[in-house]
Amino acid sequence: MSENKKRIFSGVQPSGNLTIGNYLGAIKNWVGLQDEYDCMYCIVDLHTLTVRQDPKELRQRSLSVLALYMACGLDPEKNILYLQSHVAAHAELAWILNCYTYIGELNRMTQFKDKSQRHADNINAGLFTYPALMAADILLYQTDLVPIGQDQKQHLEITRDVAARFNNLYGDVFVVPEPYIAKVGAKIMSLQEPAKKMSKSDENENNFVTLLDSPDVVVRKFKKAVTDSDREIRYDEENKPGISNLMSIYSSVTGKPFGDIEAEFQDKSYGDFKLAVGEAVAETLKPVQERYNQLMGNKDYLNEVLKVNGERAARLAYRTLNKVYKKVGLLPRG
Ligand code: TRP
Repeated sequence: MSENKKRIFSGVQPSGNLTIGNYLGAIKNWVGLQDEYDCMYCIVDLHTLTVRQDPKELRQRSLSVLALYMACGLDPEKNILYLQSHVAAHAELAWILNCYTYIGELNRMTQFKDKSQRHADNINAGLFTYPALMAADILLYQTDLVPIGQDQKQHLEITRDVAARFNNLYGDVFVVPEPYIAKVGAKIMSLQEPAKKMSKSDENENNFVTLLDSPDVVVRKFKKAVTDSDREIRYDEENKPGISNLMSIYSSVTGKPFGDIEAEFQDKSYGDFKLAVGEAVAETLKPVQERYNQLMGNKDYLNEVLKVNGERAARLAYRTLNKVYKKVGLLPRG
């Protein structure tokens, strides 16, 4: 990788199967960035432990996310695709950053408040200090740009504050990262509650479509998607959030602009439209699922990818961590 390309870093939790929201909103665009930027896509399994997980399922999903990234077109030689827990520097830097992050800052995090409500029986310290680990992920690699959705803005803000605080104390140790706002890419909302973002960890399965849903399931979920009481297929986010979301999805998978879609379905019913969206999505997922199944049939290869990419990441990470150790007064390792 060349030194003058900008670095992009993003993380995804293996907390559920990736959805068409992850694909259409992010991964699909990342494929187009792999030559222009030095990209790292980390499967953040340590973050996932802040909510109770089934160990067997977590292991399976971590590998599955990797296979899906690759099935969607991310090349593991052009990008660094790896597991957070395989590069111990993440946990090591997180500890140090914990000592430079204020309780008052963490108390303001809306995701912490949300998750504490949803998991009231397990409000653990990891959930609270989650942003320090996320800051470590990003800052370890001298990241320039972080592609994130609205829900992660606050976490990137705290990352920038901690980086700036550290740099003020010790000189320029960290690059202060900026959000990466994609030029294209749809924001995909929940199918049943189009006011909120589609999420792979939603308790209602009809809210999301995963990249591994069979064509039948895809079509069924779209048939059940909420619309509204008039009968017009027209893009209007404010007054017709359900239909607008379906139009975004359809436009994203077919490449058709909204105007063409409105014309195509002018005399059709919501039922016709929902069926068309479901079928178009199922069609898009077909080749992804084929590649995914091939990859999952070759676990040795996937594990090799994790090993090689983990080593590439570790080399970069320890450069930063060694610098940090020195600055704060820890003796270098022999
Ligand atoms: N917190 C992010 C989420 O839940 C995942 C994440 C962890 C991340 N570390 C990151 C995203 C670093 C971007 C950069 O979606």
